[in-house]
Amino acid sequence: MDSVDWLPRHTEQLDDLEPLRYFALGCLEAAAKGGATCLYDGRLAASALLEERPELEHVRITYATMWRSSTATHPLIAIDPEHGPVLRYRSALETNSVEHPLPNGLTEAQMYACVESHLSDAVAVVHRWRPGDLVIVNNRIMVHARQPFTGRRVMARYRYDDPHYRTVILGR
Ligand SMILES: [Fe+2]
Repeated sequence: MDSVDWLPRHTEQLDDLEPLRYFALGCLEAAAKGGATCLYDGRLAASALLEERPELEHVRITYATMWRSSTATHPLIAIDPEHGPVLRYRSALETNSVEHPLPNGLTEAQMYACVESHLSDAVAVVHRWRPGDLVIVNNRIMVHARQPFTGRRVMARYRYDDPHYRTVILGR
């Protein structure tokens, strides 16, 4: 039901050492208004960030959640063997711990503002849901967020290779 807040921009499951490879979202019932899923290209954001502030390659953030005991530390910009520099990121939350000191006297607020700005420039998809839609996301490339919405909506989520929840039992 109604959500007045944005779901902050994030890579799914950064409290794991290896973030999920893929997840899929499906729409069974769309909200009356809003609720679009926004996808940002983490490769574009990483390249632009490194061009503006190369020292950000040294930033590391530890991520936790309220609902699991696992934590993991990730570089802000990962070097993916397949895709090169990729931003893997979650917007400022109290369960983020930025490793200090930050390079060149950068404050956390400055670092987050810089990343958010480059993510805004790297928006790739704003998907407005209709019943029957299915979106598959490469979680190691894309950062996602969700707009506020009003009314009821029903979504299905599937996580590929989730180490915590087996959402599909494979046949033998
Ligand atoms: Fe998510």
